[in-house]
Amino acid sequence: MNTQETTISPALSRRDFLSASAGAALLFAVGGFPGSVRATTALTLPPLPYADNSLAPVISAKTIGFHYGKHHKGYVDNLNKLVTGTEFADLSLEKIIAATAGQTEKTAIFNNAAQIWNHTFYWRSLKVNGGGEPPAALKQKIEASFDSVDACKKELLTAATTQFGSGWAWLVLDSDKLKVIKTGNADLPLTQGMKPLLTIDVWEHAYYLDYQNRRADYVNAVLDKLINWVFAAENLSA
Ligand code: FE2
Repeated sequence: MNTQETTISPALSRRDFLSASAGAALLFAVGGFPGSVRATTALTLPPLPYADNSLAPVISAKTIGFHYGKHHKGYVDNLNKLVTGTEFADLSLEKIIAATAGQTEKTAIFNNAAQIWNHTFYWRSLKVNGGGEPPAALKQKIEASFDSVDACKKELLTAATTQFGSGWAWLVLDSDKLKVIKTGNADLPLTQGMKPLLTIDVWEHAYYLDYQNRRADYVNAVLDKLINWVFAAENLSA
């Protein structure tokens, strides 16, 4: 495996994504991630932003071990196999996503690329000693869009628990308003022209070892104890 790292841009904007869709030679803005553009190098698994046991007891080291070490890594390995020798081999992750979204014959490439992006964004959406109050500017925006932080959290819980099957709950910026949306399987807000601020993984592999079928307990614990409002605020202002 080549050691040059390719990572995602957490603050990728709608404009950036649409530009990527148009094939523009765009260097994506990077907020806290090293370079996101590659040239003839394999994608690598981005490092976890914390130790694998540091989110316990909300998310156990065992869950992180499988989720990050097997599932996230698996998407990276699969994508490298799928794009080797193709026109996608030298593209950044965002450009691969933009180039394959909605194309039935490219579904496998899209799914693996999007899942790499989603998972790296998810790990950043969590932090040790998270939860609590969002930073002031984000809190003000949340209150303007949802009335209160609690109402926003309630919408995230509803989105997470009503997503049928595998998928994701997201806080996004859509035009000038914050919204909560849910996406199925590997889909992500970038394909809908929205800017993601944070996400919660509701695939069963994210919680089943710790919570079995109690998805709501997992989501509530994440919202109260791990959610990284600082990351969301950085994405909002980027
Ligand atoms: Fe996952």
